[in-house]
Amino acid sequence: MKIAVIGTGYVGLVSGVCFSDFGHDVVCVDKDPEKIEKLNAGVVPIYEPGLDALMVKNVEAGRLSFTGDLAGAIDGAEAVFIAVGTPTRRGDGHADLSYVMAAAEDIAGIAKDYVVIVTKSTVPVGTNRQIKQVVRKANPDLEFDVASNPEFLREGAAIDDFMKPDRVVVGVQSDRAADVMAEVYRPLFLRDFPIVTTDLESAEMIKYAANAFLATKITFINEIAALCERTGADIKQVSKGMGLDGRIGNKFLHAGPGYGGSCFPKDTKALARIGQENAVPMQITETVIKVNDETKRRMIDKIFDLCDGQMAGKTVAVLGVTFKPNTDDMRDAPSLTIIPALIGAGAKVRVTDPQGKHEGEALLPGVHWVEDAYKASQNADLLVILTEWNEFRALDLKKVARKMTVPRLADLRNIYSARDAKRAGFVAYESVGRDAWHADA
Ligand SMILES: NC(=O)c1ccc[n+]([C@@H]2O[C@H](COP(=O)([O-])OP(=O)(O)OC[C@H]3O[C@@H](n4cnc5c(N)ncnc54)[C@H](O)[C@@H]3O)[C@@H](O)[C@H]2O)c1
Repeated sequence: MKIAVIGTGYVGLVSGVCFSDFGHDVVCVDKDPEKIEKLNAGVVPIYEPGLDALMVKNVEAGRLSFTGDLAGAIDGAEAVFIAVGTPTRRGDGHADLSYVMAAAEDIAGIAKDYVVIVTKSTVPVGTNRQIKQVVRKANPDLEFDVASNPEFLREGAAIDDFMKPDRVVVGVQSDRAADVMAEVYRPLFLRDFPIVTTDLESAEMIKYAANAFLATKITFINEIAALCERTGADIKQVSKGMGLDGRIGNKFLHAGPGYGGSCFPKDTKALARIGQENAVPMQITETVIKVNDETKRRMIDKIFDLCDGQMAGKTVAVLGVTFKPNTDDMRDAPSLTIIPALIGAGAKVRVTDPQGKHEGEALLPGVHWVEDAYKASQNADLLVILTEWNEFRALDLKKVARKMTVPRLADLRNIYSARDAKRAGFVAYESVGRDAWHADA
């Protein structure tokens, strides 16, 4: 089966590579010539573990190619996936559908034979029907169907998530489209992964509801963490005690500096907007957005408190800037709120991140990038752990403390404990949802 994928970002590239690994003949298209040039040279433009090897394997097998030429890509394709960005529209929180609609019009202008136009991008309820109208208007003679196939992969674990999904959601309006989608996902059908077939609107809603729910879970535990700090409870013990309840589950129950990334911030805002437009305010989601913003601000207060409110002239070492480990994605990362606040208060900020520099350099002006945590801590007055990369989980804390001018630690991922910090020679330790410890208190 021939498949075309429009957009070679985190979702489009992973989907294209995995579909080709299923055995399909896949052509990935992007309007960014630099990306296509890199991909054709065997270079993956993003950091995603395992993606480069799988890509090369399928290119060499002749099942996967990259092009800027949409016409060639969709010629003979039975399914064309739209996997372009749907960022937050400036000003009103709505998902910006301009890339999706432009891709749909492009397809309509070129396609000749029956094709299923599949939306993988996260789009508000009703968008697939809009796409149908746009395509019909632009090419009234074209035989086609639309399908909604939202993606649930997590950056950093994308290939596993795609190949072994908890479920695949497919929204369709016709048996013909359902048959094409069944063929696309045949290897997953055969291995009994759940395929949830729905109408278009339900598929679109499932994606927003799932992301808003997960963002709510994270935000809930962050709010409980704030209360733990005031009451003497320990959020790690609370999370464990809650998460062992099968009805709750232990995932997304780790307190931290607030959610970020390419999906939760924009998708919660988009769901709130959809609610407003339909006169059904999403009050829980609206509160989650507000509390998450407050969580990031609370982290800034924590860091300031560790330095007695005096940031001017202090050297702060920051470990991790990406929104989570195992990705280079910086979109809406908490670091983008926290680091500028430190610089704004007069601190000198030194940063290290295993993959974040390429994206982060332009987004974090005024910081000094170094290779590792030990170089970052040299003569620093404070160490802040912002992203829980593996290499920050097993630091030689004694060595770090010795290098620092004043060894203070803000562990915003709860990797260490006050006991670890004390033993290593730190003079102060703050984390999230647990008692702070100050040597002189
Ligand atoms: N990143 C994730 O973890 C994730 C997970 C699930 C769902 N999603 C959703 O998937 C969609 C894509 O997200 P992403 O993170 O991959 O985006 P991205 O910004 O990384 O990639 C989008 C790509 O589309 C290309 N593009 C835009 N318009 C085009 C056009 N007309 N023709 C060809 N190429 C075009 C861009 O050049 C870019 O390479 C979004 O709707 C997002 O919400 C993302």
